[in-house]
Amino acid sequence: QPGLAVYDPGFVNTASCRSAVTYIDGDKGILEYRGYPIEQLAEHSNFLEVAYLLINGTLPSKQEYGAWEHEITFHTFVHENVKRFMHGFRYDAHPMGMLMASVGALSTFYPDARNIGDADNRHMQIVRMIAKMPTLGAWSYRHAQGKPFVYPDNELSYTENFLSMLFKMSEKKFEADPRLVKALDVLFILHADHEQNCSTNAVRSVGSSQVDPYSAVSAGVAALFGPLHGGANEAVLRMLRRIGKKENIPSFIEGVKNGNEKLMGFGHRVYKNYDPRAQIIKKACDDVFEVTGVNPLLEIAQELEKIALEDEYFVKRKLYPNVDFYSGLIYEAFQFPPEMFTVLFAIGRTPGWLAQWLELVQDKEQKIARPKQIYTGDRTLDFVPAAQRW
Ligand code: SDX
Repeated sequence: QPGLAVYDPGFVNTASCRSAVTYIDGDKGILEYRGYPIEQLAEHSNFLEVAYLLINGTLPSKQEYGAWEHEITFHTFVHENVKRFMHGFRYDAHPMGMLMASVGALSTFYPDARNIGDADNRHMQIVRMIAKMPTLGAWSYRHAQGKPFVYPDNELSYTENFLSMLFKMSEKKFEADPRLVKALDVLFILHADHEQNCSTNAVRSVGSSQVDPYSAVSAGVAALFGPLHGGANEAVLRMLRRIGKKENIPSFIEGVKNGNEKLMGFGHRVYKNYDPRAQIIKKACDDVFEVTGVNPLLEIAQELEKIALEDEYFVKRKLYPNVDFYSGLIYEAFQFPPEMFTVLFAIGRTPGWLAQWLELVQDKEQKIARPKQIYTGDRTLDFVPAAQRW
């Protein structure tokens, strides 16, 4: 039945799964959310509308959007006990570890979330998760900075409210440059979903046991934490800083070609062409740097991209910049520390995880994830008791 994801009964980790949420053509560099090209959504929509589209499958009417925005806005607060829980982390806890734990903790605050068979209940948990992710993400940052947590301001837009909870330093109403708010909103749109990537696969696999969505999403946050997945944006900045200047690029490239390390922000499991999101982010760099001044690492990134795209090693392996290659430069221009970059990715990806989770739990044919294995160990050995072995 089109529109429903059905894993083959013998679900394997690389199982082909049918879904109607996101379409990617890796050879042509095409990405569409519910059939709409990412380029058009990035240019004409906003993150909350894209979140509605991913979850509901259609663009909202004016009334539907108004109701959605109101629901999200008035669920941004988090229970005070979660705030106390977050204060319990070490002073230098990684924000992604805090986010993973606090999202999982939400499952203990909403026991009704386990009633995943009820449509209204599912909708309520989806609203809560999308609404609270920026609050938890901002509080992870404030904890790491040793600063007091800032409560949500429901008079601000979704993305501006997130910036307020991150950077507000006085009782004065927080105001951000609209160009920065727009750029961050576009980045959230670009990260909103991406078919069956590692973290979405984690959400679907955990969700297939019919656990509540907070527990399933915390598994997605855990997968995204890895440097080969969401953690790549943080790794790109560390790589560019280590290269230090354009003159060092040739020796760095030689090291990559010798297998000493990977060119972070390059390559993709699916795209064997330019990641369309990287193109859009590259353009967003100009808008942000107009406000913040150019990130000095941009020049190294552009030279690195130019050299790699002309080098046989990368061309032969169809390695192109992916979504993470330029995003970190923008985040750094926002004054985010590198350990916050993947938190930003997680906030953007939340509607996609939830849309895929919803598609999964609505699929009556869905079976619990049970990947097949290829057994490579010994067989039918005779046990020798310890006394005879030692
Ligand atoms: C994300 O799946 C998604 O959709 C993910 C994502 C999303 O939105 O959810 O798009 C987000 O995770 C983007 C990827 C971020 N990760 C990085 O930038 C880390 C660096 N990239 C690599 O680690 C790698 O490209 C992967 C993990 C992304 C993909 O790994 P694969 O599937 O092994 O890549 P491949 O099969 O295309 O590799 C072909 C060859 C291999 O070499 P050979 O064995 O043929 O000699 O290219 C090599 C790889 O070793 N290679 C790289 C490389 N990526 C692949 N060599 C150097 N630098 C790289 N970045």
